[in-house]
Amino acid sequence: MTKAAQARIMQRICQEIRDQLASGTLPPGARVPSTRALAAEWGVSRTTVTAAYGQLIAEGYLEARQGAATRVARGLAPSPPKPKKPPPTLGLHDELSAYGRRLADFVTASERDRERLAVDFRYGDIAGSDFPRLAWRKVVTTALLRRQPRLRYGDPAGSLRLRTALQGYVWRARGLRCEPDQVVIVNGSQQGIDLCARLLLDPGDRAVMEDPGYNLARQVFLAAGADVIPIAVDQEGMQIEGLPSARLAYTTPSHQFPLGSVMSAPRRRDLLTWAERYGAYVIEDDYDGEYRFDVSPIPTLQALEGGERVIYLGTVSKTLSPTLRLGYLIVPAALASLFASAKRLADRHTPGLEQEALAELIESGAYERHVRRMRRRNGQRRAAVLAALHETFGEEVTVVGAEAGLHVVIWLNSVPSAREDAIVACAYQSGLGIYPVNPLYASTTSTGARPPMAGLVMGYASLDDEGIRCGVRSLKQVINNVSPKRPDELRRGART
Ligand SMILES: Cc1ncc(COP(=O)(O)O)c(C=O)c1O
Repeated sequence: MTKAAQARIMQRICQEIRDQLASGTLPPGARVPSTRALAAEWGVSRTTVTAAYGQLIAEGYLEARQGAATRVARGLAPSPPKPKKPPPTLGLHDELSAYGRRLADFVTASERDRERLAVDFRYGDIAGSDFPRLAWRKVVTTALLRRQPRLRYGDPAGSLRLRTALQGYVWRARGLRCEPDQVVIVNGSQQGIDLCARLLLDPGDRAVMEDPGYNLARQVFLAAGADVIPIAVDQEGMQIEGLPSARLAYTTPSHQFPLGSVMSAPRRRDLLTWAERYGAYVIEDDYDGEYRFDVSPIPTLQALEGGERVIYLGTVSKTLSPTLRLGYLIVPAALASLFASAKRLADRHTPGLEQEALAELIESGAYERHVRRMRRRNGQRRAAVLAALHETFGEEVTVVGAEAGLHVVIWLNSVPSAREDAIVACAYQSGLGIYPVNPLYASTTSTGARPPMAGLVMGYASLDDEGIRCGVRSLKQVINNVSPKRPDELRRGART
C-alpha cells in the first residue's frame, strides 16, 4: 500500500471514531477496540491504526496510559441529546400490508423507564429471587452434557420428552387429559394465541372475548383483521347468555383477567354448548392456574364434556420466569399437525436446550416442588397486600380477584375513573409503579359496564412484604394529592 493510501485510510478511521463519539456510541471513558482488532476489521496494518489513535490522542478525543487500554477521554463532554425523530411507521401506510397497517394503528402504552421506581406493582413481573437458580442450573447442565452426535432442527411441536412430561403435569395439576401429540410447545402463551389467530381467523371473522380482558390477546385478534366482540364479565366470569356466533372465544375462566372472577360451572357448560352449536373454538388461557388461594379447584374447560373444542394454554411465565418464553398449547387432536406446521413456519421450534431442561425439571419432581413453594410465597405476598390495603384504605377501596392469581384489582370507591391517568402519572413521579384498568376495556363504550370509579391493577409477585407496605402507603398519599374526593364528580364520572 502506498503511503498516500495509508494516510487516507488512517483519516477514515479517525473520522469513523469521531462520528461514534459524536453519536454517543462511544461514551466518555469507554474502551476503544484494540489496534489488533481494528486493523483486522479494516484490513490494514496495526501501524495505520496506531497512527490513527495517535492522531485522536493529540486532538484530545482519546487518552492512553502506559500498560492500559486506550479509552475515550473522560473529560469529553457527552454529546447533546438528538432531537427525536418522528415514529418510523408514520407516513408508511401505503407501503405496509393490511396486517402492518392495523398494527401501526394500535396505541401502544408507553413503557416508561421502570428501573427508577422504588416500588413497582407491575402485573406479570415476578421476583428474581424466586427463580430456582440452582435447580435450573442443574437441569441445564444435564441437558448440555447429553451430547448429541448431530445438531438438527427438532420437532416443531416440541420435544417428545417435554410433551410427555407436560402431559403428566397437566393431569396431576389440572386434571386435564391429553395425548403428547396434542401438546405443542410455544414461546410463551403469547405465541400460542398468535398461532390460534393464524389458524382460525380470517379478516372479518368474529372473535368474542372478555371485556375487560387481556390486551395482548385482543391485539392479536385485531391484527388478524377479526371483528373482536367484547363480552361483559361479572362475578361468574364471561356472560354467555346471548353470545353471538363467532369463530372463536377467548376466555380466562380460572381467574378472569383482570377482574379475577371464576367462571361458574353452568357458564362453562353453556360456553361449550355454544362452541358446539357454531363450530367455534374456545381458547382457555390458564395463565395463572397454579395460584389458587381461597377457591377450590374447578375443572378446566378442556377437561369437561364437550372440551374437544377447547384449546388450552399454559405457561411457565408465572411459575419460573416470563423471560424463559416457554408455554404450551393442548389442542384438539384434529388440529395438532396444523399447529405444528404453523409453529414451524413461525420459528421452526422453541429452543431445544430450554425444552430439555424443563422436561428434566418436571420429571425429577423439582418443578412441582418449586410450584408449591411459589404458591406459599405468593400466598404470603397476597396476605401482605390485603392487610396493607385494609389498614391503609379501610372501606375506601373494594378489592376484587384476590382468590387466585398474582394480582388484585382495587376500585377506589370515591375516586372517579377520569382520575386514573392522573393517579398513575403522579405515582410514577413519586417512584411508584401502578397500572390503570381503563386500557383493559375494549373501548369507552364497552359492554363491560365499566364501574364509574377509578380502578388499578396491582401485581404483587415481584415484591417483598416491606415493598408492598411502602407501596400501598405511598399510593394512599398519591390518591390524597390527586383526588378531591367529591361525590358529585364520581356521579359525573359515571356518565362519561
Ligand atoms: C391473561 C394472560 N395470559 C397470558 C399471559 C402470559 O403470557 P406469556 O406466557 O406469553 O408470558 C399473561 C401474562 O401476563 C396474561 O396476563
